[in-house]
Amino acid sequence: EKAGFDHFMLKEIHEQPKAYRDTMLGRISDDGKSVELKEIGMTTEQIRGISRIHIVACGTAFHAGLVGKTVIESLARIPVETDVASEYRYRSPIITPDTLVIVVSQSGETADTLAALREAKRNGARVLAITNVVGSSVARDADDVITTWAGPEIAVASTKGYSSQLIAFYLLGLYLAQERGTVEEAKVAEIVAAMNKLPDQVESILEQANVFKGVAESMSKHDNLFFIGRGLDFAVAQEGSLKLKEISYIHSEAYAAGELKHGTLALIEDGVPVIALVTQEDLYEKTLSNIKEVKARGAHVLGVANAGYEGEVMKSVDEVFSIPRTLPLLTPALSVVPLQLLSYYASLARGNDVDKPRNLAKSVTVE
Ligand code: F6R
Repeated sequence: EKAGFDHFMLKEIHEQPKAYRDTMLGRISDDGKSVELKEIGMTTEQIRGISRIHIVACGTAFHAGLVGKTVIESLARIPVETDVASEYRYRSPIITPDTLVIVVSQSGETADTLAALREAKRNGARVLAITNVVGSSVARDADDVITTWAGPEIAVASTKGYSSQLIAFYLLGLYLAQERGTVEEAKVAEIVAAMNKLPDQVESILEQANVFKGVAESMSKHDNLFFIGRGLDFAVAQEGSLKLKEISYIHSEAYAAGELKHGTLALIEDGVPVIALVTQEDLYEKTLSNIKEVKARGAHVLGVANAGYEGEVMKSVDEVFSIPRTLPLLTPALSVVPLQLLSYYASLARGNDVDKPRNLAKSVTVE
């Protein structure tokens, strides 16, 4: 059942190219110029009437929502707030009939997410769910559902669940933008063409999976490490940090690279591993200067950079891993893969139960 892989997590990491293809299938017009989400019942008028969006989820699904916020804001120009479900419910958020609430849940059964969904509906919002389980509680209660077609996720640590949620957000962002007229057809075509390349690009990262073994082994000897990045890189850093904590039990934190000097830099001492994501072209220089700050304090830095820019990054880091070139908005769908592999091999190096980390359950049905 693990199809020759040692763990479900590794199998599921390798299923991501298929998860991307299946999630896009039938949702892009034949000419590649528009996104078709027939499952969305909102009329063009309703979509044009949306004044704000709340994205609500837990854990890894919340991290997908952080990427979703940038995607929707940049394409459809609708203001988006993100909340973890356990906070959203109790902070009396401002929900109006023209608020669209997007809940994200791989399992569709997370108690806090479900309760947030019901709270949003009680307040008159329309609720759109992004979920991987057809017929789940979240799918049943939502007004509109975008199913991620990642297939069953068995490992407690979510991998293909997260990345297929990113694909769903790209499709949704494009769709909302088309309906609101905030994006040119040529731009949609450009993004769609780049999305179509993602499965093969993930494949090419997976072919180098073994590269991460050595790095993860030396990482696994540390008790503390940091992930840094700006913009979408910061969103992915947060997911990388959660994944590592969850299965390797190594303490780690993710920081917006520009925030380091406001406190965290004090924690950087000789040999502390720092994983720096440098994939956002317009922020390259800024992130590089932050990397130099941690290097100067003795950090051991692993850079994750775009192909073609890794030479420049290498001047400031100890090791660099390059990911294939795509559009800046789409890089999370690639950059998360090396982070998943690092966590996997770090967990393995520590002799942990990769698929069933201590204290955690796959589906959190208690509040
Ligand atoms: C981490 C992880 C959890 C889940 C969270 C929400 O790898 O799997 O953080 O993402 O419990 O679960 P779903 O998406 O099923 O609502």
